[in-house]
Amino acid sequence: MIRNMLSRCRLALAASLLVVLSTCGWAQQVARPHVAQGRGGAVASVCPWATRTGVQVLREGGNAVDAAVAVAFTLAVTWPEAGNIGGGGFMLVLPGPGQPVWCVDYRETAPAAAKVDMYPLGEKTLGARYVGVPGTVAGLHLAHCRYGRLPWRRLLRDAIELAERGFPVSDALARSLNRVLQDPDSKPFAGLRRTFGHPQGRPWRKGDLLRQPELARTLRLLAREGPKAFYQGEIARLIVRQMQASGGLITAEDLARYRAKLRVAVQGQYRGYTIYGAPPPSSGGICTVLAMNQLERFELRSLGPWSAQTWHLVAEAMRRSFLDRARHLGDPDFVTIPRFLTSKSYAARLARSIDPRQATPSRELAPDLPIVEEGMQTTHFSVVDGRGMAVSNTYTLEMSYGSRVVVRGAGFLLNNEMGDFNRKAGHTDTRGNIGTAANLPAPGKRMLSSQSPTLVTRNGRVVLVLGSPGGRTIINTVVCLLVRTLELGQPLPEAVAAPRIHHQWLPDRVMAEQCDDPRWQKVIEGLRHRGHQVVFHRGTQGDAHCVLVDSATGRMTAVADARRQGAAAVVEPAGGGETDSRAGEPHDRAE
Ligand code: DON
Repeated sequence: MIRNMLSRCRLALAASLLVVLSTCGWAQQVARPHVAQGRGGAVASVCPWATRTGVQVLREGGNAVDAAVAVAFTLAVTWPEAGNIGGGGFMLVLPGPGQPVWCVDYRETAPAAAKVDMYPLGEKTLGARYVGVPGTVAGLHLAHCRYGRLPWRRLLRDAIELAERGFPVSDALARSLNRVLQDPDSKPFAGLRRTFGHPQGRPWRKGDLLRQPELARTLRLLAREGPKAFYQGEIARLIVRQMQASGGLITAEDLARYRAKLRVAVQGQYRGYTIYGAPPPSSGGICTVLAMNQLERFELRSLGPWSAQTWHLVAEAMRRSFLDRARHLGDPDFVTIPRFLTSKSYAARLARSIDPRQATPSRELAPDLPIVEEGMQTTHFSVVDGRGMAVSNTYTLEMSYGSRVVVRGAGFLLNNEMGDFNRKAGHTDTRGNIGTAANLPAPGKRMLSSQSPTLVTRNGRVVLVLGSPGGRTIINTVVCLLVRTLELGQPLPEAVAAPRIHHQWLPDRVMAEQCDDPRWQKVIEGLRHRGHQVVFHRGTQGDAHCVLVDSATGRMTAVADARRQGAAAVVEPAGGGETDSRAGEPHDRAE
């Protein structure tokens, strides 16, 4: 099958470039997304192999959850910096038109040995001590048990084959692997080099074959035995052995105790749309709804996408929602999350505190919080099937390649998610360290996340599926996309390509993407004029793989962000109709 896929690669590449060149009018100077349109189902992810798996599962009669599970297992093989079985995440599911949206929370948990102040401020969050109890396998299994149609084994098949036989690395993957292998911080991690080093000891180049036989064996065990193998069986034993060898905290009991949870999605209304987001322990849903509720009080549409005033107001709304994130949010099984955070009246009060002419200094908003003066890898994918089921999934190892610890004998990376807990009780500083109580570590507690898988519906039907990686910037990437699509009326490919901003209360500054369009330079000047400190991201902000569904025609537009060379594909409806020559084809957009 893989040989077959490869032989069609060149054709697919040509077709995809044609489509890319014909999309994106004004946004030519920023990354151009990959776009596919159809009616029978749609998948957008960071990786062509994973997207292909997703559409293949849809074609075989699987639903959006089946496809999402298969995409997630495939990414664990083909996108090792963030795709994972050793990490965790959040999956939002709209089971069908008019039905309630659920969130599968498969966030990692702190091991029983976790304590407040166990990690010094400023320490790099690498190594076995930073590993949280992984949730991905339990989460994908819970989603499948509740919603899946195809057999569990089928959903792991492509991942097993890709791990066993290997696959040619893309330009993006070669660069990613070389980056982590050449990083001096990777030196202590022999397992990382053993698993991901080039067999000839040289840097990876596009087209080289990456084989992961240990991971293939692990996935085969999961296909046969399900999550039991991971949390109580052979894989659990290998994880515990690795923890003991490298000074980690996770025990057999921690693994056996892990449970993925089904939670009600956070919900907000925005000019007739319903926005669904991930609930705590993610801050994503609440912060997104809180920002959008504030912005609903302004008429951004009349200002337009190139107005500094638009982005001033957006930055101020971001600032205020991130302050509440720091103050209130943590694992809801350990702390009480105030209900008012998503209310319209609270957002109206915050919106009234926004000065339309001037940036509000962050400290002024929180006179009660003592603030000390002191001198991004996840992945998101979106799936919609032909029956109106939609999945928005973000999952992560936390940093690129997580803790960099590979489980010996099992061939997979473990997360470093413990670094998402607040570091030092009471220590909040201008650099962005938060010391509030809600997110201090405790045994079994889930660390606060910014992952923001998001679904938007109108009259109960999905219209938009979106999300992104990027640590705390994730929330604001989602806010930028919602502002651009729902408020400013930009087509999704333009909205995905357009430059993004981020404000997270502290540090008190706007981070902005570079864009050589003179209109964006004017926006930046205008923000500075209003008193914002603006700094540019060294790279890009986020990587949003989204699906739009036209509520009138049912036509789906899958849009894969080009920031990390994502891939979009669609399924033609049963019985013919519209086709897309790229649907399901792996392709490489690096050239
Ligand atoms: O859950 C979180 O908020 C973080 N661990 C996500 C990290 C991330 O997105 C890094 N990537 N780009």
